Amino acid sequence: MDKASGTWSGRFSEPVDELVKRYTASIPFDYRLAEVDIKGSLAHARMLNHVGVLDAEDLADIERGMGEILSEIRSGRFEWSLDLEDVHLNIEKALTAKIGDAGKRLHTGRSRNDQVATDIRLYLRDAVDRIQEGIRACQDSLLNLAERHASTVMPGFTHLQVAQPVTFGHHMMAYFEMLERDHERLADARKRINRLPLGAAALAGTSYPIDREIVARELGFDGVCENSLDAVSDRDFAIEFTSAASQVMVHFSRLSEELILWMSPRFGFIDLADRFCTGSSIMPQKKNPDVPELVRGKAGRVFGHLTALLTLMKGQPLAYNKDNQEDKEPLFDTVDTLLDTLKIYADMLTGIRVKPDSMRQAANEGYSTATDLADYLVKKGLPFRDAHEAVARAVRAAEAKNCDLAGLPLAELQGFSPLVSEDVFAVLTLEGSLAARNHAGGTAPEQVRAAVVRARERLASTRP
Ligand code: ARG
Repeated sequence: MDKASGTWSGRFSEPVDELVKRYTASIPFDYRLAEVDIKGSLAHARMLNHVGVLDAEDLADIERGMGEILSEIRSGRFEWSLDLEDVHLNIEKALTAKIGDAGKRLHTGRSRNDQVATDIRLYLRDAVDRIQEGIRACQDSLLNLAERHASTVMPGFTHLQVAQPVTFGHHMMAYFEMLERDHERLADARKRINRLPLGAAALAGTSYPIDREIVARELGFDGVCENSLDAVSDRDFAIEFTSAASQVMVHFSRLSEELILWMSPRFGFIDLADRFCTGSSIMPQKKNPDVPELVRGKAGRVFGHLTALLTLMKGQPLAYNKDNQEDKEPLFDTVDTLLDTLKIYADMLTGIRVKPDSMRQAANEGYSTATDLADYLVKKGLPFRDAHEAVARAVRAAEAKNCDLAGLPLAELQGFSPLVSEDVFAVLTLEGSLAARNHAGGTAPEQVRAAVVRARERLASTRP
């Protein structure tokens, strides 16, 4: 008789098939829930004692036994057994081996169904906290870059065509804002993660006089799941988390795409520190931005986990079904991928070397101040559509001469509109264009500096 089916051996007449055992076991991955599983069990046992279902001696044995098991797990001495199917049965059997009958009493008024739902919520809550810290670290790096480059001019793009001058600091602050929303989304998801399923037992609740509020308080939950069927079955909180995680990866994937482009010699806007790049085994000149490329690639992996979880849930009738055991690997991998990405990015951003000269040259090459010329004519009384037309003709003329708008002589510019006068050249400079966008959310260096200050204040006010 194998050990797990020993748990329900009374019901069965033959042992479980070897492949089925491997197929149904979750211990190869859910051992990661061990610490939260023990935490949940201890809170449950204390509550049972409090309501008079478990005597003080049994509770003391359980606490001592779990303490030993925890240190065995932490030091790597604990022996996980595939025969015991999952983390819950492994720990429960080890406890019983240590303390005898008291170990068998622990599961009173509880099921693995509400136990595992509790474990995942505890695990995810901690993961969210660490991910939020990682996001903050990346935001700090972005703020430092933005502050240093509040007036470093670069071309802003739409359709990847040079559009209007912006500052590199402004560009970095765009990502700061994306991460700010990611942080908010995770905080919101955390509220729904942080509810206690224990007490739901298998699905209908339990006939023991349990006190769920005590357990919730001890485990730091904001409250209990209201409905027992819902408590053991839904994983919407995990889906929501993975969705928020996917959104974080979308943002880092976009930033990665930009870093990759900017590092290409065709752009030459930045250089990444060598420790984030690799060479080629055949082309000696190569320095490849492997890290951002992998971030872009790993985004797809996290989206895959989101799809997996949605699909996992969609066909399940109430209440718990074994399908739910498949929630763990996608969740664990999402958390691991995200934490690594954030850690690497916080450091990689700090190591970016900006090349202001190439950025300026690119901004000068693409007629990026054409809109400023149109606005100039509008301010002198020309309707915007007519100004647009006049400037388009000026750009064509400059293109034919292979020069920038400021390279056209005054007389020639006046040929496109008699409203042009000597003061036009101030408008055509990159600095003039930047300084003109001087309102909250605009790219004027003064505004970028103010945005950095506001952002720092915002972060300081949310820090413990
Ligand atoms: N390993 C299972 C899971 O991850 C634990 C719950 C099993 N419950 C059950 N009735 N088979 O979901």
